[in-house]
Amino acid sequence: MSEAEDRKPEPLPPHRTLTSYYDADPERSEYVFDLFNKTAHHYDTIERLFGNGGLLYRRWSMRLNGLKPGMRALDVATGTGNVIVGSAKIVGPTGQVFGCDPNPGMLREARRKFSGPLTRGVAQELPFKTDTFDFLSMGIALRHVSDLKATFGEYYRVLKPGGRLWILEGHVATSKVGHALTRFVWGKLIPGLTKLSTGSEEAKLLMDYYWDTVEQCVPPEQIVGALDAAGFQDARVRVTVPGAFCEYKGQKPPRAG
Ligand SMILES: C[S@@+](CC[C@H](N)C(=O)[O-])C[C@H]1O[C@@H](n2cnc3c(N)ncnc32)[C@H](O)[C@@H]1O
Repeated sequence: MSEAEDRKPEPLPPHRTLTSYYDADPERSEYVFDLFNKTAHHYDTIERLFGNGGLLYRRWSMRLNGLKPGMRALDVATGTGNVIVGSAKIVGPTGQVFGCDPNPGMLREARRKFSGPLTRGVAQELPFKTDTFDFLSMGIALRHVSDLKATFGEYYRVLKPGGRLWILEGHVATSKVGHALTRFVWGKLIPGLTKLSTGSEEAKLLMDYYWDTVEQCVPPEQIVGALDAAGFQDARVRVTVPGAFCEYKGQKPPRAG
C-alpha cells in the first residue's frame, strides 16, 4: 500500500452489504445505476401515489432552511427533478440552479421539467469548483453514495463559506411498534401499490430496495458525526415526518471578518 493510500481515512458506507440484491460492495453502485436506469420512467408515478405532496414539501423545507431568491444552488442526485424544480422556483430569475446525477435515464426525465444545467456525476466526486454554491440539496439519495465521508468532504468543498446543506432522507421509527408500522407501510404497502400502479416488477424492486436501504442505514448520530468531522457547523438531524422523513443540515463556517 502506498503512503497516500495509508493516510486515506476508512470509508464510511451508508449501509452494510445487502446480499439479497448484489454479492459484494464493489457491485453496489452498478446495481443502483441499473435499477434507477430501468425504472426512471416509473419514478414520478411512484411520487404521484403520494399526491405529489413530496414536491411541495421539498420546496417548502428548502425555503425554510435558507434557500433564497438570487442564490446559486446545487442539487445532487437530481433524479427526475423533484427537488430542482422547487429550487429553481425559489431562486428565481436572479439565481441559478445546477443539477447533478450519475444516471442518464433519470436525467432524461429531469430534462422534461428543468431547462437549466444538468451534469452527470456522483456525490463523492463532484464535477464542480471549490467555493461555488450558496446552497446544496440532496433528496432521498444519501444511501446510494459509496462513502459518506468523501461525500460530505465534497459538499463542504463546493459550498461557499457560509453556504448551507439540506439533505432529505428516509426515517425509521425507533419504538418497536413504530418500527413494525414503518416496515409495513414502506416495506409492504408501498411496494405493493407501486406494482399495482405501474405494472412493473422492477419499479416494485426499487421500492423494496428503498425500504431495505433505509432500514439498514447507519444511525442518524453517525451521519451527523460525519458531517461534523467534515467541518460543517451546527450539523444536526431533524425528524420531520416520523416513520417517513428526516432532514440533515449544516453550514460551512462563514469566512472570519
Ligand atoms: C430516489 S432518487 C432521488 C431523486 C430526487 N432527488 C428526489 O428527491 O426525488 C435517487 C437518485 O440518486 C442517484 N444516485 C445514485 N447514486 C448516486 C451517487 N453516488 N451520487 C449522486 N447521486 C446518486 C440516482 O441516480 C437517483 O437519481
